[in-house]
Amino acid sequence: MENQIIALRNEITGKLSEVTDLSELDAIRVAYLGKKGSITALLKGMKDLSVEEKKSFGAKVNELKEEATEAIDKKALELKEQEIQRELDSMPVFDVTTPANTDRGSYHPITLVQRQCEAIFRTMGFAIIDYPEIVTDYECFEALNIPKHHPARDMQDTYYLDNGQLLKSHTSAAQNAILKKYGKALVEKGEPIRAIFPGRCFRNEATDACHENTFFQMEGVMVDKDISISNLIYFMKTMLSEVFRKDIKVRLRPGFFPFVEPGFELDISCLICGGEGCPSCKQSGWLELCPCGMIHPNVLKEGGIDPEQYTGFAFGLGLTRLAMMKYGVKDIRNLNSGSLKALAQFTDDE
Ligand code: PHE
Repeated sequence: MENQIIALRNEITGKLSEVTDLSELDAIRVAYLGKKGSITALLKGMKDLSVEEKKSFGAKVNELKEEATEAIDKKALELKEQEIQRELDSMPVFDVTTPANTDRGSYHPITLVQRQCEAIFRTMGFAIIDYPEIVTDYECFEALNIPKHHPARDMQDTYYLDNGQLLKSHTSAAQNAILKKYGKALVEKGEPIRAIFPGRCFRNEATDACHENTFFQMEGVMVDKDISISNLIYFMKTMLSEVFRKDIKVRLRPGFFPFVEPGFELDISCLICGGEGCPSCKQSGWLELCPCGMIHPNVLKEGGIDPEQYTGFAFGLGLTRLAMMKYGVKDIRNLNSGSLKALAQFTDDE
């Protein structure tokens, strides 16, 4: 019987030295230590021995069992480590000194200028409002002093939906809701209404290098007691000087929009020639950028605000235009093209 123990010990040692993976090792564990395993069989076979023999032989078998268990556990650990090492070896090696992949994506130029404008207006206390792209006739026109059949509707060739709603043709469509939303705080707490609302607009334009049927505007309104055109000019100048990182000259020309009175076209001095006159500004030295004006009393009234007590300005900055000027995009159609080649060249210069 002693011999059996010695033979088993040698056998196990031999097998463990050859085993190369965990499933083989499991089979060895079962073969020796399992319910029907050889060591278990030795223990079972002791029932016919004398008490004395049982004692000494039993101790030896148990010793072998412990030894075998320990050796198998040790081998299992070894094999697991080898397996991890093999996996690590098969992984690609990363060279941390390799230059960064310059092929990464970037934000769309319109997103870039939009965020920039938002940050600037936020520091001046303006709330930033998101507004739906599908609106009602009331929001887009009637609340803005443009009744049904008013000829001013012709200025914006609008996409109407079957249900009578429409794709907003200008961000001014949010004005009424904003006045209603913040009007209460204005009257009760004397907090001025200051909000900007950037958004995508749609008009049925024939497209060319300067016209698109889908474009972005950023509307802004400010309402309080004693708001005047000077406030409007100040905010526009500050914003534009920040966006272009230089002092921008502006001028106002009369412009007609039924929801402002007086209404203006705000021009900036041409950034290409510095105001001398060049082909980009049609030799005038000025570029048209932002229609604006003092909010019409009817619009304030419709928004629940007393025009006898409060005044305000509104502007409709052409975000698409601004992005084109800032990034020197010559053809507006590039912006909606989805062409990575055209768009990847613009990156945030913050
Ligand atoms: N909503 C006008 C347009 O898109 C622009 C505008 C906004 C004019 C605010 C005046 C005041 O044509």
